[in-house]
Amino acid sequence: MAAYVELALLVGALLLLFWLLSSKPKKFPPGPFKWPIVGNIRLLSTGGQAHTMMCSVQKEYGDIAGLFTFNRPIVVLSGLEAIREACFRDDLSARPPNQVHKMLYDGKILGIASTHGETWKVQRRFTLQHLRDLGFGKRTLESIAHEEIQAVFEDIEDISGGQKNGFPNPVNFHDILGGTSINVLWHIIAGKRYEHRDPQFKRLILAVQQLLQQGSPAGTFAGLFPRLSKVFPKMTGLNKLASTRAPIHTFLADEIMAHKKNIDYDHPRDFMDIYLREIEKQRNDPDTTFTELQLRQVCSEMFVAGTDTTLNTLSFGMLYMVLHPEVQKKVQEELDEVVGRDRMPSLEDRPRLPYIDATINEIMRCSTIAPLAVPHAPLTHEPWINFRGYHIPKGARILLNLYGLHHDPKVWKSPEVFNPERFLQKNGEQVPREALMPFGAGKRVCLGESLARNNVFLFFTAILQRYTLRVPDGHPTPTMEPDGKTVLFPKPFTVKVNLRT
Ligand code: HEM
Repeated sequence: MAAYVELALLVGALLLLFWLLSSKPKKFPPGPFKWPIVGNIRLLSTGGQAHTMMCSVQKEYGDIAGLFTFNRPIVVLSGLEAIREACFRDDLSARPPNQVHKMLYDGKILGIASTHGETWKVQRRFTLQHLRDLGFGKRTLESIAHEEIQAVFEDIEDISGGQKNGFPNPVNFHDILGGTSINVLWHIIAGKRYEHRDPQFKRLILAVQQLLQQGSPAGTFAGLFPRLSKVFPKMTGLNKLASTRAPIHTFLADEIMAHKKNIDYDHPRDFMDIYLREIEKQRNDPDTTFTELQLRQVCSEMFVAGTDTTLNTLSFGMLYMVLHPEVQKKVQEELDEVVGRDRMPSLEDRPRLPYIDATINEIMRCSTIAPLAVPHAPLTHEPWINFRGYHIPKGARILLNLYGLHHDPKVWKSPEVFNPERFLQKNGEQVPREALMPFGAGKRVCLGESLARNNVFLFFTAILQRYTLRVPDGHPTPTMEPDGKTVLFPKPFTVKVNLRT
């Protein structure tokens, strides 16, 4: 009898423990069952792409849903209203604590994308102001971009076998465009451009691509278990994260050193010089956030955010043009009519190119290369904040389901169809532009938006002004399905180019 009682008590205690470990905070958003200890890690690590998983979560649990990676809460926000409200609310504009930064940078969290509060405000304002002054979104940028486009044309000639031979070899645009957008940005930041085939430059671009693919919207294992990572850096992936960052950091540290050697504070040449001058100016301020380490991190973020994002958008653009020759033709007809063939398209032409504007919007909607944005977090000293009747716990990762929003049939008619016309005003119909937010919105809106928009416009139009693109004979039709995790890119495809007649 006593044995039965003991067994019943044991079972009762185990059930209680199971219940305690699987219980969720009060008013936590609806979501799947939280398994003790592991939470929903199985769901999050099924090998599928995070954005498709989050779209399924939205379908099942609604626009505000909650999950757990181990014991860490994740809140997935979907739909226009929830996403917009989150973007514009101050108390949802923080970032989750970046434990990997802390481990790699002596306990500090640096840069812009991972910081919040005063450091973020000061660094973001300073960076944005000076990048704008130096030519972000201006004509200065245009002439740098035109130089890069010439280099792209040379690469196309070279790789495709050239005009004389009828461009016999298929071209991989993703490879050719790899270094272009970063070269434009780097001109402003460090006053330099790199040869596209420079092996060091190629290695850096590869490191950026690896770094982006090592991240996960749910957080990295090393970041989730910082104490364990300190003891077992190899097993938890910390060493791998550090070694991928290493070439980028060495490159930037060398570049900063070279700038310091021949800087003239009265005549700064580029962003690095301006930043170094600010460090000098604030040298005696004990609270300054302007340090060389901070400069390296800000530049590293520009390098990482500026390399693959614009490249992938352009790459998707080329893919959609190959898959939709009728759209390609209309783009070229509009270019012929407004710009002609004697000069490259310029930023000033843009207002007179509505079909191209609509096509670029549609490329950004369909591809949504940053499908879950960059995770937000509550900015609060309280244990939770209220969001539309739910409690979002402090420390939660908030994922903005931009991919779901851009493919939501409630917002877009036939969202799976590539159709630029949806962005053209017809018969007084409302154009759903507000729901198009590839760069996010509000306080954390992408810092490189104007640069990226201008680069995409200049490269896309210049390539299509000169070449027609189609699937090479005998090759299968490429898929529109994206690859990638935190940042999406097209599955490998090649293109047969021809000079336009
Ligand atoms: C087509 C190209 C690009 C797309 C689609 C894109 C998209 C985004 C998105 C969705 C976010 C997160 C917004 C949020 O947290 O709510 C973001 C943040 C950011 N982006 Fe971009 N981006 C692009 C290009 C660039 C470029 C070229 C740069 C470099 C100058 C850049 C620098 C940044 C930075 C620094 C942040 C963090 C801002 C902050 O936390 O305050 N991005 N971007």
